[in-house]
Amino acid sequence: MTTLHPAPPVDGDAAAQLAVWPASTTRLPGGDLAVGGVPLGELADRYDTPVYLLDEEEVRTRCRAYRAAFPDAGIHYAAKAFLCRALAHWVEEEGLGLDVCSAGELELAVATGFPAERIVLHGNAKSPRDIDTALRLGVGRIVIDSPSEIARLAAAVAPGQRQDVMVRVVPGVAAGAHDAIRTGTEDQKFGMSTGDGYAQHAIARILDQPRLRLTGLHCHLGSQIADVRPYLTAVRRMVGLLARIRESHGVLLPELDLGGGHAVPYRPGEAALDVPGLARRLRAELEEACAAARLPVPRLLLEPGRAITGPAGVAVYRVLSVKQTAGTVFAAVDGGMCDNPRPALYGVRYAPRLVGRASRTEDRPTTVVGRLCEAGDVLAEDVPLPADLHPGDLLAVPVAGAYHLSMASVQNLVGRPPVVAVGCGRSRLLVRRETLADVRARDIGL
Ligand code: LLP
Repeated sequence: MTTLHPAPPVDGDAAAQLAVWPASTTRLPGGDLAVGGVPLGELADRYDTPVYLLDEEEVRTRCRAYRAAFPDAGIHYAAKAFLCRALAHWVEEEGLGLDVCSAGELELAVATGFPAERIVLHGNAKSPRDIDTALRLGVGRIVIDSPSEIARLAAAVAPGQRQDVMVRVVPGVAAGAHDAIRTGTEDQKFGMSTGDGYAQHAIARILDQPRLRLTGLHCHLGSQIADVRPYLTAVRRMVGLLARIRESHGVLLPELDLGGGHAVPYRPGEAALDVPGLARRLRAELEEACAAARLPVPRLLLEPGRAITGPAGVAVYRVLSVKQTAGTVFAAVDGGMCDNPRPALYGVRYAPRLVGRASRTEDRPTTVVGRLCEAGDVLAEDVPLPADLHPGDLLAVPVAGAYHLSMASVQNLVGRPPVVAVGCGRSRLLVRRETLADVRARDIGL
C-alpha cells in the first residue's frame, strides 16, 4: 500500500481529540483518519477487521525519548505489554534491552536476533523451563522473586559459570491505577519484603552462592502511574537497603532497577507520566540519597512497557449491529474482550471514534460492546458516537498497543486479530489473523 495523503489543517478542538493518537495521525478529506500515512478504511479493507495497527515510527520515537531522557540508564522494554518479532527488532535497533517473563517471550526475542545479554528475566513463579531456557540462551540477568528460587537457580547454573541476578524487593509504596496492577505493596504476590526480613535473608543467601552474582535490587511499583513521587519514595527506600547491604555484607551493589509503570493517557485530557521530569527528579533524588548514605550512585535500569507501545497501537473494528435497549444505544463490533480485556478487568475507559467516513449527525451516548457471549463484554460505556452509526461502519480505538493482544484469548473461538505495521504510507502484516485452522490444529483428540 503506497498512498500518502496530505494532512488538511486541524483546528484546536479537533487536534485535542487526536491527542491520544499516534503523532502521525492525520484527518483525510472524506472523514477518514490515516495513521503512518495509511487510511484506516483502506487498512480495514485490505486486512479485514478487527485489525490492530502499530505505528513503527511512534514506537521508535518513544524508545528514543527514553534514551534521551536517561542517557546513562539501561532501558528494558517490558515485553509483556506486547511482543512480536518485528517489535523486538525495532526495540533492539533503538538500543533498548528487553524485560521478559517467560521462556516463550525469551525464545521469541532471541530467535529473532535479540542479544540475550540485554534481556532480564522476571517471574514470580519461574518454571523449570523458564530457568533452563534463560541459562541456555545466556540471559543477562534473572530477577529472583522468592527464596525458593535461589538454590534452584544456583543448582541449574553449570559448574564454573556465574549468572547475574537481581533481587525483587517490595518497596512498600502504593501506586498504580487499579488494585490488580499495584505491585509495590506487601499484600500482593511479587517480590520479597524488607519489613519481615525476607528480602535481607534472601540477599544473604544469594551472596553465599558462588554461581550467582548479585548485581542489584529491583522493584516495580505497579502500572499506569502518572505521578513521579512514588518513584522518589522507592528510590530512597532502595538506597536505604543498599546501604544496609553494604553494612552487613561489605558489598556495593552496582545496579538499581525501578521497573516500569509509566502512565499514558487513554482519553484526551488524561495525564501521562512526564518522562523527562521523572529522569531529572530521579537523578537528583538518587544522587542526594546516595551522598547521604555515602554510597556510589548505582546505574539505573528501567522497564517501561505501556509507554513504549500503548500509544503506537490502534484497534479497528467493524460495527455488526446497532440497537437500543432500555434507553441504551448498543453498538456491537466484531472484536471484544477477547482482544481487549482491559475494560472488563480494570474498568479502563477508552475513546473510540468513527473512522472511514464522515458523519453529519450529532453524537449521542453509545455503549460499544463486543461479540462475545457475556454481558460484561463492554469495550466503552456511554461514549459519544454519531447518531447515524450503523452496521458496516468502522470504529477505531486508540492506545491499543499495550496489554490488548498480549492478553488476548480465543474465547468463543473467535480468532485473534492480525497486527499490521504502518509507516510512510505503507502497511505490512506482522502477525497474521488466527484462523479456525489454527484452532483446529491444536485440537487433536477425538
Ligand atoms: N516491569 C515489571 C516487573 C512488570 O511487572 C511490568 C508490568 C513492567 C515492568 C511494565 O509496566 P508498564 O510500564 O507497562 O506499566 N495488564 C495491565 C498491566 C499489567 C502490568 C504488569 N507488569 C494493564 O493492562 O493495565
